[in-house]
Amino acid sequence: MPQNPSGKIPLQQLIGVIGWILTVSAAAVGAVLILYDINSGHSSLYTGVVTYMLIPVFLGCGLLMVVIAWVGRLRGRRKQQEGDEPSYLLDLNNPQHVNRIKALGIFTVLFACLSAVGGYRSYHFTESTEFCGLTCHQVMEPEFVTYQSSPHAKVACVECHIGSGADWYVKSKMSGLRQVYAYLTDSYELPIETPIHNLRPARETCQECHWPEKFSGNLEKTIKHYTSEEDNHPYAVRLTLKVGGGSGEYASGIHWHVSSGYKIEYISPDNKRLEIPWVKMTSPDGKETVFTSEDFDPDILNSTHEIRTMDCIDCHNRPSHIFKDPMRLVNEAMANGKIDGGIPEIKYNVMELLNEFYATTQEAHERIETTLNETYAEVEPATLEEKVTQAIDSVKEIYSSTFFPERHVDWTTHPDFSGHFRWDGCYRCHDGEHKSETGVAITNDCNNCHLISGQAEGFKEVANMGYELQDFYHPLDMGELDEGDKCTDCHGAPEPTDYMELAASNN
Ligand code: HEC
Ligand code: HEC
Ligand code: HEC
Ligand code: HEC
Ligand code: HEC
Ligand code: HEC
Repeated sequence: MPQNPSGKIPLQQLIGVIGWILTVSAAAVGAVLILYDINSGHSSLYTGVVTYMLIPVFLGCGLLMVVIAWVGRLRGRRKQQEGDEPSYLLDLNNPQHVNRIKALGIFTVLFACLSAVGGYRSYHFTESTEFCGLTCHQVMEPEFVTYQSSPHAKVACVECHIGSGADWYVKSKMSGLRQVYAYLTDSYELPIETPIHNLRPARETCQECHWPEKFSGNLEKTIKHYTSEEDNHPYAVRLTLKVGGGSGEYASGIHWHVSSGYKIEYISPDNKRLEIPWVKMTSPDGKETVFTSEDFDPDILNSTHEIRTMDCIDCHNRPSHIFKDPMRLVNEAMANGKIDGGIPEIKYNVMELLNEFYATTQEAHERIETTLNETYAEVEPATLEEKVTQAIDSVKEIYSSTFFPERHVDWTTHPDFSGHFRWDGCYRCHDGEHKSETGVAITNDCNNCHLISGQAEGFKEVANMGYELQDFYHPLDMGELDEGDKCTDCHGAPEPTDYMELAASNN
């Protein structure tokens, strides 16, 4: 024991003792938890966070304190002994030193074993979907909920958000730390920003599972609708989408944009990539063609706006967090019998309710329930009463699957670029107004992207219809749509809900 005439405990000794207590207890608890975790076969979120995130921090701090105390003590002693005999940081003739080295050696081996297992487990834990979706539970709720009902529900978050390779792993953990800090200090922004400007390029993530050469041929889709007329009139359209694919000069169809050989670049001056006034196409032979829209301002070429190379995300920007528009969800529920099309004007009434603003989910659910109950209080025939109750439940479910007012997110805040009905999507470039220097416009021909091979006011009719190239006719008779009318002129999504402003004006 060092001389201690004052009776005070020296600081470094205190640090050392606390360090040892911390280290030993963290190691013991960690070992037990890791064994438990391996045995139980599944990681629960909370044991995961404690075992693989908190314990290593305690262990690290403990060890650091021990080392600080030891070095401090040796230096102190050396100072004391100066002038006497030479002193060594390590003296193998000093039994105290030898014992200490032994203890440290045993401990290092234990620690190495523990951290090998712990490191492996923690790597997997921080890559798990539970960790990504639930640790920041509330913040990412909209992404997690929509993910679970998407075609990628079985694909782990990290497959798209991190991908393979150590560099992106480290990058993602660094930005993860920042996010955890923002979360803990409540300094994050609502909603989480979209698009993600530093998302890993799709060729390194999506293409691990889908590669462009794999695509070929057409994809058929029948899309079902109901109009808002009193009889909730059905209408279905069968599209033969020319997905295409291939590479170089053999590429064709929609996936032509991502075939090897061609390169499409664009500039969007707005943060959400809604407007694209400048597009450059580079052919396999190196020839460049620039297309610009009517309101193109040459200044944006000298600005700091990103020149983005088109990839999967420029069309499939919602492959997993799909905030479906309520019209589609209601149509689907009606086609599946969850909302009975026999209830008069149900489509119209439900859409009215879903187009309104509610500050909380609870408020929305209450309003949906009372309004529909009132509207259909005297519904005829009375056998429909049960159907109305069922419809109310479905509408609440629909609301909760695509509106997250507490998180300031709903379908209007997250555009989907894979079509041209609610957002211009393809029409950001294919509106017929994007022209090259020689006056050639990016194609606007309906049949270049899809054929309408059937449409009718009834789903069975379309299913049983032979294939016949048709012109689109509008489900609600409005006469011919004018040339150049875009679907978004009438069907475009409303401006993104501004939750901050609405909350302020409600108070
Ligand atoms: C199939 C690929 C895929 C999977 C799986 C996936 N994401 Fe995403 N996610 C994306 C893409 C693509 C975007 C960016 C869209 C953009 O930038 O326009 C995104 C965006 C986000 C955003 C930003 C907000 C937004 O909606 O744009 C968050 C947060 C997010 N993802 C969290 C998660 C979590 C948590 C999981 C797992 C539960 C997950 N993601 C799984 C592809 C995926
Ligand atoms: C780990 C593998 C994996 C990764 C990574 C992945 N996907 Fe997928 N993707 C799948 C599987 C599996 C399906 C099929 C799901 C099904 O048939 O229901 C699918 C289906 C799709 C579909 C068709 C969806 C539909 O409506 O049927 C699209 C589009 C798609 N993926 C785009 C993407 C994009 C864009 C990315 C990158 C952001 C991506 N995928 C990343 C595995 C993956
Ligand atoms: C120019 C826009 C665009 C680009 C770029 C694009 N896609 Fe697609 N993709 C579509 C459209 C449109 C469909 C038709 C189905 C639909 O609407 O979802 C489709 C269909 C698909 C399908 C379903 C095919 C099937 O037969 O079921 C997958 C998977 C897919 N894309 C993945 C990708 C991947 C991966 C990339 C990037 C390498 C990519 N797409 C790039 C527009 C695009
Ligand atoms: C950033 C601009 C941009 C966006 C967004 C875009 N395209 Fe294109 N697309 C082009 C350009 C440029 C061409 C080549 C010029 C042309 O063929 O008229 C092209 C060509 C095509 C072609 C013809 C390919 C061939 O066989 O030659 C199809 C089909 C197509 N696009 C479909 C789509 C679909 C579907 C979407 C939306 C899901 C879409 N594009 C979104 C720029 C874009
Ligand atoms: C640049 C390619 C492109 C052009 C040009 C184009 N479409 Fe489309 N269209 C699409 C894509 C992609 C979808 C989305 C398919 C999906 O939902 O998977 C779509 C969807 C549709 C739908 C189904 C809408 C719904 O949700 O019910 C109709 C109807 C349609 N298009 C009609 C037309 C008509 C009419 C024209 C010509 C005036 C046209 N399209 C031009 C690519 C295109
Ligand atoms: C001039 C305005 C206008 C234009 C342009 C327009 N529509 Fe419509 N559309 C309407 C109105 C109004 C309704 C009636 C709303 C309802 O009944 O739900 C409607 C209803 C529909 C419906 C049924 C919607 C539902 O709730 O399921 C479909 C499908 C549709 N339109 C497709 C299209 C497509 C595809 C285009 C572009 C090619 C288009 N419309 C362009 C005005 C328009």
